[in-house]
Amino acid sequence: MTERWTPSSWRQKPAKHIPSDYPDAEAVTRVEDELRRMPPLVFAGEARRLKSLLGDVAAGKAFLLQGGDCAESFKEFHADNIRDTFRLILQMAVVLTFAGGKPVVKVGRIAGQFAKPRSEPIETIEGVTLPSYRGDNINGMEFDPAVRTPDPERLLKAYAQSSSTLNLLRAFAGGGYADLYNIHRWTLGFVADSPQGARYRELSDKISESLAFMAAIGITPATYPEMHRVEFFTSHEALLLGFEESMTRVDSTSGDWYDTSAHMLWIGERTRQLDGAHVHFLKGVKNPVGLKCGPTMEPDDLLRLIDVLNPANEPGRLTLIGRFGSDKIADRLPRLMAATRKSGRSVVWSTDPMHGNTLKAGSTGYKTRPFDRILSEVKSFVEVASAEGVHPGGVHLEMTGQNVTECLGGARAVAEGDLGDRYHTHCDPRLNGEQALELAFLVSEKLRDLRADDLRVAS
Ligand code: PEP
Ligand code: CO
Repeated sequence: MTERWTPSSWRQKPAKHIPSDYPDAEAVTRVEDELRRMPPLVFAGEARRLKSLLGDVAAGKAFLLQGGDCAESFKEFHADNIRDTFRLILQMAVVLTFAGGKPVVKVGRIAGQFAKPRSEPIETIEGVTLPSYRGDNINGMEFDPAVRTPDPERLLKAYAQSSSTLNLLRAFAGGGYADLYNIHRWTLGFVADSPQGARYRELSDKISESLAFMAAIGITPATYPEMHRVEFFTSHEALLLGFEESMTRVDSTSGDWYDTSAHMLWIGERTRQLDGAHVHFLKGVKNPVGLKCGPTMEPDDLLRLIDVLNPANEPGRLTLIGRFGSDKIADRLPRLMAATRKSGRSVVWSTDPMHGNTLKAGSTGYKTRPFDRILSEVKSFVEVASAEGVHPGGVHLEMTGQNVTECLGGARAVAEGDLGDRYHTHCDPRLNGEQALELAFLVSEKLRDLRADDLRVAS
């Protein structure tokens, strides 16, 4: 007999990376009860819509662009940052749509991406040992015993920040900012005079010409309101299950459970145990879900996880996000793709070229990622997918619209000595706007090659 799933049944399962050192357990319960009474952040119908769009990706008819901060923070919370991430995603989507000739499904790592799994639970500096920083919704980054102690009130603050972030994103997506006629205005200030900026301008000139032609034949935002807005979705790692449980509600239309904290939730590489709490929790909600797949994943593990997370083989329900490292992907990914294809599992295959390519910069000790390894993993992803007859469905990136110096390389060649200039991330190093756009151009070239191959096969 199968056990009954409820939003709290994960509590009977082994759970990794969930803090158990809150000084006052009752205060956590009180906060969770308060969250249960808060309005949902997203509506179940929107999650279903994203699932259907991801179904198109699974069928090879669209492409997924997912990106944003490694960890959102209270300190970096600002309308300008939200706008800059949003417009970077718009710019990248334009580049990818134009080259690939397919719609791009836009999903932010935003409006809820706070909690982080950490490789070390504690950190020692000059003989002092404190709990590691675990994300602003759990504790603070400052190396101070009071700040590093988990505080449940932070969950309420994170909920409020997610809610106002989402409010602004909805306004940008639907209120005219994302109108294609604004395409030239999306350029980020510091990107404008870079090689990527020039390439983007060239592309947006071409699109503007097409828009002028379409207007001449009567197709304008006034006659086609879809041109005036974009669909934009939110996602985060479903790590802190107490919070996710509190946000999980029955949808009155379908009678199904939805986690209303975001449209899409994913399971991280460190919490994907088949019998663990995170897999158990996400199997019971109907949102589209993601699963990170790292270098130790074997085809059998993957198929078992797919059976649990997507038993009815619904297109768009499950996105597999490979994160192997540029040196391991060619060895590890083919067998996983072959397994999903041969067994007829409908999944989206996406690549996270960030998490397998992190290193410590020798001289300065900054955690960083070489841009050329990131590009190399993306290239390998597309090549492996086409060799395996699988659609290279998407990219999953840690990036920001800000002009940070966190990843090495790129057109402006961020060097080790530059990392300290603008290193603002609260967790992992992100691509800056220019590097992210450069990556979008590279992916677009790869997609264009594939499209040319498709057309050749078809003719
Ligand atoms: C992340 O996406 O920030 C993350 C921790 O990734 P992974 O689970 O793949 O290590
Ligand atoms: Co990260």
